[in-house]
Amino acid sequence: MDFILTLIYLIASITYILGLKMLGHPKTARRGNLIAAFGMGIAIIGTIFIYPKEVPMHIYTLIGIAILIGTVIGWLVAKKVAMTKMPELVSIFNGMGGASAALIALIEFHHYQGQTLSIVTILAGLIIGSVSFSGSMIAWGKLNGTLKKPIRIPKYNIINNLFFIALVAFAGFIAYQGIDSQLYLYVLFVGALAYGILFVLPIGGADMPVVISLLNSFTGLAAALGGFLYGNMVMLTGGILVGSAGTILTFAMCDAMNRSLSSVIFGAFGAGTISNESSREIKGNITETTPSDVAILMNYANKVIIVPGYGLAVAQAQHIIHELEELLVKKGVEVKYAIHPVAGRMPGHMNVLLAETNVSYDRLIEMEDVNPEFPNTDVVFVVGANDVVNPAAHNDPSSPIYGMPILEAENAKYIVVNKRSMKPGYAGIENELFYNQKTSMLFGDAKDALGKLVAELKNM
Ligand code: TAP
Repeated sequence: MDFILTLIYLIASITYILGLKMLGHPKTARRGNLIAAFGMGIAIIGTIFIYPKEVPMHIYTLIGIAILIGTVIGWLVAKKVAMTKMPELVSIFNGMGGASAALIALIEFHHYQGQTLSIVTILAGLIIGSVSFSGSMIAWGKLNGTLKKPIRIPKYNIINNLFFIALVAFAGFIAYQGIDSQLYLYVLFVGALAYGILFVLPIGGADMPVVISLLNSFTGLAAALGGFLYGNMVMLTGGILVGSAGTILTFAMCDAMNRSLSSVIFGAFGAGTISNESSREIKGNITETTPSDVAILMNYANKVIIVPGYGLAVAQAQHIIHELEELLVKKGVEVKYAIHPVAGRMPGHMNVLLAETNVSYDRLIEMEDVNPEFPNTDVVFVVGANDVVNPAAHNDPSSPIYGMPILEAENAKYIVVNKRSMKPGYAGIENELFYNQKTSMLFGDAKDALGKLVAELKNM
């Protein structure tokens, strides 16, 4: 039986690695997800039914009820969630992972008394899991707008760091003294929950995707500690994969925004203060255009590059933009999509959105590859994107996005920007591209504006 369980765990571990690899491309991502879910499924079933020790019947009943409740809630929520709300969902799911790791630690603490290494593992799992749980709940509140403003107490960096050191010292004291006390354990638990809240509370809502990815790596680490405690290979592999993937993603996002992780955690970017600090007023005129003028421009173009952004997701205009692309291709226009790594509000947001409408992957061109193409592009059509095409990233050293790599749309012959108003995007700053003499603004909701544009083009 032991051998079968080990084999199941091995297969499950392989499916996680395979699944993760396949998530790297939109074409294989769905299958990769299913393969990893299958692995998780057999690992759970194997653990329940081939567990070497005798388990009382009522435990099976409890496990069955828990699985049923979890499956129904998870299924319903995941089915209903809108694409723009995905980071919120991820933060809740991640928080549940952290809570599970913390609960394991709470339950196992007494069972491992006298085994110092196991107790250290348990206490580390308790701290990391609890921080991940409470931090994720705050992140969720910030993303859904319940907690609107970043709350900063004076000198919060120092206070938070001292708090964390105190937590670790207290855990060290418990382990060193071999204290077997429920009270001490719960004090540590509550302290870690409080630290998670204090850690995330001062960070601006807009920086939450980065924070969630960081908390995700914490959850992975907490799960890996659980795997280490039980000598359970599949839990260890899963935890390490989540932990390392979360860490890599966190740094990749920071890189793409040209920000350090410490500036996300300790800085003010996206904290709501930014628009006051740095929105340099741009002097100049904007040129407004109409769907019929844009249709004429595109109809006679040889090459059009579409720059999708967060607004495309908000308007759910992915289907209509695909229709526009197909229409232009039929008219002999070369059409590509320029994909910025942090366009939207979560990693791969634009890829996922466009994959929904079966846009060919060959048309999605990454930033480094597409930038040299802008000078020989007739029309760049920016739809619901703002920061990712803001030339201030190149020209204005005082700008908070200075140094962030951008899509160099300003190098094209004509630029058409669709958005609803002159309001800034995520970074809260003005965009001089909108005042460029080559730029025309097509105001309106993306779905509406694109609908009119497609109708005009169909009549040509
Ligand atoms: P943003 O700079 O946020 O701009 C989106 C624009 O879409 C807004 O200016 C908005 O203008 C417009 N918009 C909103 N709803 C619309 C609708 N229904 N129809 C048409 N336009 C609409 O987006 P971006 O260019 O995609 O840049 C992403 C930003 O998010 C970057 O600053 C990035 O650093 C940040 N960020 C991304 C991530 C990831 S991982 N993707 C994570 C954290 C932060 P109006 O209100 O005038 O319409």
